[in-house]
This record gives sequence, C-alpha cells and structure tokens, in this order.
Amino acid sequence: RRQLHEHNHRYYVLDDPSVPDAEYDRLLRELQNIEAAHPELKTTDSPTQRVGAAPRDDLAAVRHRLPMQSLDNCFSEEELRDFDRRVREGLGRDVIEYSAEPKLDGLAISLIYENGVLAYGVTRGDGETGEDVTDNLKTIRQIPLLFRAPRPAFRVPKVFEVRGEVYMPREGFKRMNRELEQRGEKIFVNPRNAAAGALRQLDSSITARRPLAFFAYAVGYSEGYSSPQSHSQILEQLRGWGFPVSRLIDVVSGPDGCLNYHAKIGAQREKLPFEIDGVVYKLNDLAGRDELGSVSRAPRWAIAHKFPAEEAATVLENVEFQVGRTGALTPVARLKPVFVGGVTVSNATLHNMDEVERKDVRIGDHVVVRRAGDVIPEVVRVIVEKRPSDARKVQLPRKCPVCGGSVVREEGEAAARCTAGLTCRAQLQGALLHFVSRRALDIEGLGEKLLLQLLDRQLIKSPADLFRLDAAAMSGLERMAEKSAANVVAAIEKSKTTTLARFIYALGIPNVGETTAAQLAAHFSEFDALLEAAESDLGTADHPKLKDRYTQLRQVHDVGPEVAACICRFLTEPRNREVIQALCKSGVRWPKSESRKKDGPLSGKTFVLTGTLPGMGREAAADLIQAHGGRVSRSVSSKTDYVLAGTDAGSKLAKAEKLGVAVIDLPGLNKLTGAE
Ligand code: IVH
Repeated sequence: RRQLHEHNHRYYVLDDPSVPDAEYDRLLRELQNIEAAHPELKTTDSPTQRVGAAPRDDLAAVRHRLPMQSLDNCFSEEELRDFDRRVREGLGRDVIEYSAEPKLDGLAISLIYENGVLAYGVTRGDGETGEDVTDNLKTIRQIPLLFRAPRPAFRVPKVFEVRGEVYMPREGFKRMNRELEQRGEKIFVNPRNAAAGALRQLDSSITARRPLAFFAYAVGYSEGYSSPQSHSQILEQLRGWGFPVSRLIDVVSGPDGCLNYHAKIGAQREKLPFEIDGVVYKLNDLAGRDELGSVSRAPRWAIAHKFPAEEAATVLENVEFQVGRTGALTPVARLKPVFVGGVTVSNATLHNMDEVERKDVRIGDHVVVRRAGDVIPEVVRVIVEKRPSDARKVQLPRKCPVCGGSVVREEGEAAARCTAGLTCRAQLQGALLHFVSRRALDIEGLGEKLLLQLLDRQLIKSPADLFRLDAAAMSGLERMAEKSAANVVAAIEKSKTTTLARFIYALGIPNVGETTAAQLAAHFSEFDALLEAAESDLGTADHPKLKDRYTQLRQVHDVGPEVAACICRFLTEPRNREVIQALCKSGVRWPKSESRKKDGPLSGKTFVLTGTLPGMGREAAADLIQAHGGRVSRSVSSKTDYVLAGTDAGSKLAKAEKLGVAVIDLPGLNKLTGAE
C-alpha cells in the first residue's frame, strides 16, 4: 500500500512516475488479490479504494456536472467477445454497431462552452472533481475558443461540454526533451506525463511553449442541445463546429469489426504521430447507452481494448558485448525475462558505451525495457530508487570477446572497436554477410547458413575468397545439391559485374551507407581517384585544426570529418588494400556506363527524400534520381533544390516549407526526369 500510494503521488500529482504503467498495474492487481483473499485486511484508505487522482491543491477545484467516468479494459479477443455478448444481451439485439476509436495516451479534459464561447476547462481529476486549467487550455491552438459557424446555421446550445484528450505528439515530445536536456533540466519519461505536466502548470506561459494538441471524442453535460441519435453523428457535428476529431475513428459492426479495427490500428501504431495504448469501442446508438447504464466507475456500453504495454520493468542481470561487422562492440543487456510489447524479452540493446554512461546503467539495476513494434528492444532508463547496494558498473572489455584483439575507442566516436579487422571471426562473418547482401553485391542464394558453413570449414577467409569457390567445394556442404551449388557459383560469377557505388558500399567502411557510397562514386568516378584522395588525406589526419583535416574527401557532398576519417582509415589500412586488390584481380568490375551519369535532366540538383513513397522504396527513388544526374542528400538546407515527400513525411517536410524549398511527389519527380 505504501508503495502504491507513493506511485500514485508521483504519477498524478508530480507527473513523474518512476515505474512503467505495467509495473504499477501489477502491484495494484497484487494488492487487489491480497485484499480479496483477506477481506479483513481491506481498509478505506487502501489504494484499491480510489483509482483516480488527487487534485493539486494550488489549482482551483471544479466539480464535474456529470462524472467523468473511466473505461474498463480488455486485452484479448475472448474478453472482447464477452463484452460484445453482454451488450447484445443487455439490449436484446443481434448485431451491435460500435464507434471504434484510437485510445490516445494523454489526459482527459472537459471544456465548457457557454453560448458557443469557451468558459472554462477542467482536468478529469478523480472523475468527480478536476482542476481548473482554463488559461493553460487556451494556449492549445487546436482548442476552439468559440464555435465555428457551420452552414446551415444552427442554434448554439446554452451550455455545451466537449470532452477529449490533450496529448503531446511524439515529435514535439522529443524536441522538448532535447531542449530540456540541453538546459540541464529534468526530462519527462513519456509524452503523457509531459502533457500532464505542461497542462497543470500555474504559469500558462510555460504551457504555451509546450507542444500540446487536442482531440475531441465525446459530449458531456449540455443545456439547450438536441442530440442526434448516434455517437458518430455527434463527432461529425463536433467537426463542423471546429473541434479536431481523429480521422482514425470509424464505425464497425460486431466483434469481428472491432478485432479488424484493433489489428489495423495496431499495425499503424508505431507510425502514428502520437502515442496510443489501445483502441476504444463505444456503442454507437445513444439510446442504448441509457439502457445499459454504468457499473461503478465505468460505462457498460464501452470498453478499451489495450495493446500490449511497450514498457516494462525488469532486472539487468549482466552486460555482454557483441562484435559487429565493423568491429564495433555493442553492449547487450541480459535481462530477467519480461513480457513486453507482446513477447518475452531477455536481451536488449544498450547501443554503445556513451549510452551506458549517460543512462548510468549498472549490472543488478532495475531497468525499464521498451519494445515498440518490431524495433529491437532497448533499455530506456534505470529505476534509480531500486538500485541495490552491490550494483556493478559496466566495464568496456580491453580485449575483443570474440578474437582477443585489442579494443580501442577513438576520440569523438561513440563506438569502441575491435582492431583485428577481418582476422576477427565476428567481423569477417559480418563483413561477408554485408558484402553479399542485396543492396551490396547481391549474390543470390548465398545466405547466412551457407556462409557460416563456408567460414566454419575455412573455405573463405576474406570476401575475395568467394570468387575462388567452385561447385566441387560447395557441393560437399550440408543441404547443398549439385544443382544449387552450380546456381550459387553462377550467382557469384554474375555479381562480379557491378557498379562503383555498390562496390564501395559492399566494402563495409564504417559509417558509409548506400547514400554516401553513391556520393563517393559520383564524385570520384574512378576507384583509384578515391584511393588517392584517402592517401593524401591521411597526411592531414592529425592536423591541429579540424577544418583542415581530410580536405579532399570532404569535397564529397554530405561527407563530414567523422565519415571522412572512417573512409581514410579504412582505405589506407594495408589489410583492406590487399582484399580490395584481390577482389579486382578476381574480376570484380564496374563498367563505366553503369556508374552515375554526370549530366542528365537532374544534374546539379540536390534532392532530399522523406516519408513513405507509394509503390517505390526510398533506395529505388534515390537510384532513379542519381541515374538522371541528380544528387541525394540526407538533410534539408537552403542548398536543397527539391524535397521528394511521401506519406507520413515529418520534420524534413516542415523544414522544407520553412525554407521555401520546392516539395514534389513521385509524379512530380517523373515529370522532372522526363518520364511523364
Ligand atoms: S471515452 C466513459 N474515448 O481513456 C468514456 N476515452 O480509460 C470515457 N481516452 O479518461 C472516455 N482516448 O483519458 C474515450 N477515444 C477515447 C479515448 C479515451 C483516450 C482516455 C481518457 C479516459 C481514459 C479512460
């Protein structure tokens, strides 16, 4: 009880919870179970007796004219079908129509309009009484200060209460935390707490600087209002009066309609500009709502169908280091298994040592783990309050855990690396997988399993050895029939003819992705010219002034000092040079015609890509632009000529609009290339 009281205080009063919601829910359930088994232990001050918030005593308290209820939750198809059955039986109907809505993860508020003008706004509080936050709400541009006059004209209700959710979009949340961090101030753990903190300020000029937004989803108390018959009609009306109503809201039929909606929104969850923790189904027919009524604090006519929690608390049992293809050592958290994001997670990335230090992660700590969508699980933060006295600091190993080679951490680089290069098995394996991958030399049929066998039998020790393989050597391998061996050999042969950009990319130079490889190829045209630039830049590597280092490589568009340093180091390293030479000797080549055209309809023009392009991957669009002489850059600046924007375009689009850069879509690009 003491723990839960403390969590309640941090969550509701301070807007600063120390544990994830899932952990709080677990504790509350545990207490509920104890009290159910031992009713004699139940007290009136138990946290189970009040699930709402205690209002802040320095904001004026306002009693809601109609209580602001909460929603019952369900997590499974079975529970959802039970809910639908109860509704059908309660109303004596066969099929129920629901309004299906995203469940926004913000905070519920009530807006009271008198004669069409915003009179005051209140937080939900404990459902009975909330806090007057009118001035703060008025800073949120999406909240209308007065009704927009729709056509045909209508009589404005005398009193009209709009309910909805104030939330903070992800992008604004990230920006705000970045700014807070720069100023050395405390950051918020999630957008919901940030929104609550911003709204419950005493000084509304602070709220005004916070990126808050609003969606309306219901009508509360009213006078002089004749309501339509369905919830969806109300939402339509609210839209007409100028209230923002989510476009994701839909009307669905029966439990199958609900489940489809849940799956559809779940699939979009990570891409939405705001956080949601589930969906809500509400009986669309308003008369039926009265018939069903409420139980305790939640209506019988609605339910929240939650998504699995994306954050959970667990214990960090150990930290081990994985070695990647560039030799980078990635600290990996070994966790006490925990159910998060719909799966059981026992490993999570800690990215690099800078992150470990910044988050002050120690072995033995209680940590918050996040798994959102298909993203690799990560350790987000430590629950410092729970740190055991014997927690141990994480040490970067001095020797590579795979090959025993020495580990260095270059100045200014986040990653520590094993310096053994391709003699390190982990790096060789990673380098080979990268070399044969689709966007590199694209050797079909040479997958991970086959490569591992080749490595284990020491048939290959460097990428160049691939070109010495013959069908005889291959067919001795597991699950390798003569025919497939011949196919792989043919694919290897075919891959010898490539482009300069692919070849550079395939080498696996740290920090050189596809775009940079293409820029290098375009700039130097010849591989030897690139080698020469790297050699001459080696002499300037230690120049006292940063701006005088790597001057040749930095002529290339988008190549800054760090990337230049990686290219220079890689290409001047004797072992790498041997491999490159061996590759060329085995016949790897890039005929001129295949490299980028210097002149074309797009020559001299710089493009930035953003968002999802319908029917075309971003790489393909970049290839298309480069094939017509254009250049692709990562960030928008005044030098950008065009921004090619797809759906869900974010900050780059906003920046383009701010700088007045032309924004085009795919058909627009086709016009420029002359394809249309
Ligand atoms: S309807 C009785 N609709 O969820 C109906 N609530 O767990 C109560 N929420 O306090 C509200 N999105 O903060 C409703 N589309 C939505 C919602 C929503 C988020 C929140 C709201 C409420 C909580 C209830």
